[in-house]
Amino acid sequence: MTTTLVIGLQWGDEGKGKIVDALTKDSSVVCRFQGGHNAGHTIKVDGESHVLHLVPSGIINPKSKCLIGNGVVISPQALEEEIQMLNNAGISVENRLFISAKCPLILPTHVAIDQARDKQENIGTTGRGIGPAYEDKVGRRSIKFSDLLDLMSIKEKLFNILDFHNKVLTKLLNAEELDPQIIFTDLKKFQYLAKSYSCNTNELVEDFYKNGDDIIFEGAQGSMLDIDHGTYPFVTSSNTTAGGVSSGLGIGPKFIDNILGISKAYTTRVGEGPFPTELFDSTAEEISRIGNEFGATTGRPRRCGWLDLKALREVIFINSVTTLCITKLDVLDNLETINACIDYDQSTPVYKSFTGWQSSTVNCNKFSDLPKCAQEYILYIEDFLGVPVNIISVGPSRNQTIYR
Ligand code: GDP
Ligand code: IMO
Ligand code: MG
Repeated sequence: MTTTLVIGLQWGDEGKGKIVDALTKDSSVVCRFQGGHNAGHTIKVDGESHVLHLVPSGIINPKSKCLIGNGVVISPQALEEEIQMLNNAGISVENRLFISAKCPLILPTHVAIDQARDKQENIGTTGRGIGPAYEDKVGRRSIKFSDLLDLMSIKEKLFNILDFHNKVLTKLLNAEELDPQIIFTDLKKFQYLAKSYSCNTNELVEDFYKNGDDIIFEGAQGSMLDIDHGTYPFVTSSNTTAGGVSSGLGIGPKFIDNILGISKAYTTRVGEGPFPTELFDSTAEEISRIGNEFGATTGRPRRCGWLDLKALREVIFINSVTTLCITKLDVLDNLETINACIDYDQSTPVYKSFTGWQSSTVNCNKFSDLPKCAQEYILYIEDFLGVPVNIISVGPSRNQTIYR
């Protein structure tokens, strides 16, 4: 039995979903612990693509179980849509999906505030209401997932919160208010979700752990989007780094065996904010095209640039990463020269250049199958970061994964 924490080391979209799916065994339990449906995880199995936002990526394996911990913010509507999407794809979540009673709900007013405020602040959020929902959690006024079971008992509290949100919308953000009665009536339709999935995930995690199950903790977003350690204020509103799993799921740090950090072989970012190694030339276009770099949640083009080893070194410490996975190596297959930032001069990146391999890696099954120059790139990354690269991904499919 092992417990593995999977963490994105960049600004998200590192391929966490693909790798979590590839690591999921029949006996695995896969747990989300932060974020919400701002995440977009694409998993390709047997030629079919599934895009998950809220449900853990373990759901694609029919025998695994999936938990959503207290640290996740839940939009009942997004949850309903995702379960429906999975059902349509022939994937059942019954007796496989467990959601913490303590998850704060994302209300329609959170979405309206997020979208109205982003017009002023220009963070480039996903517009899913994530930030405002976490504000209410910290402000001790959240409606929780289990509150859906008995909405009458929290009606007054809900209307007070909605009144507060409407004041923010109309008086501060120049936006339309939303009708509290409609929101209340709509919420009642989601009572069945709480009946089906709400539970005490703290107890469950402890049971699974003591039972010796393999547990994967699936991070969403990436370390540089962490609310405390990221490129503030251009960050998301949760702790995306390793510490988030203890608070967001209720598992002590001592029970985590491996911390697998995932990085692309280059860097991407969606939304605004600093990106020192960003490219604006034909190489950026090529990476974007070959890597299909468009956000899975909003469809926005992802900004592309070189790998930033200097930044990775910092987040490796923050997360106490024990092993690394490098994804999308195949996207660099055609490049003549590849650069990686190894330092900064003031704030200008200092690059080390690598000779491109200019041959296909997509059918490589073993490290020794990779072209020599690709091996050298990986070995340099490993040496620079002082952490072994144990997994290399050379395509979106489950089987395009090299284990070392
Ligand atoms: P996540 O948010 O970290 O789960 O990553 P996303 O799913 O948002 O983005 C990663 C994208 O790259 C998805 O479309 C994956 O199907 C795809 N992908 C993952 N690994 C690889 C890889 O090694 N090579 C290529 N070409 N695509 C990959
Ligand atoms: P996955 O799990 C990439 C970014 C948004 C924005 C910032 C704040 O697929 O890696 P938010 O809506 O969270 O308040 O937006 O965070 N962002 C992501 N970028 N991948 C994600 O998730 C992201 N989730 C949020 O683009 O810059
Ligand atoms: Mg994503």
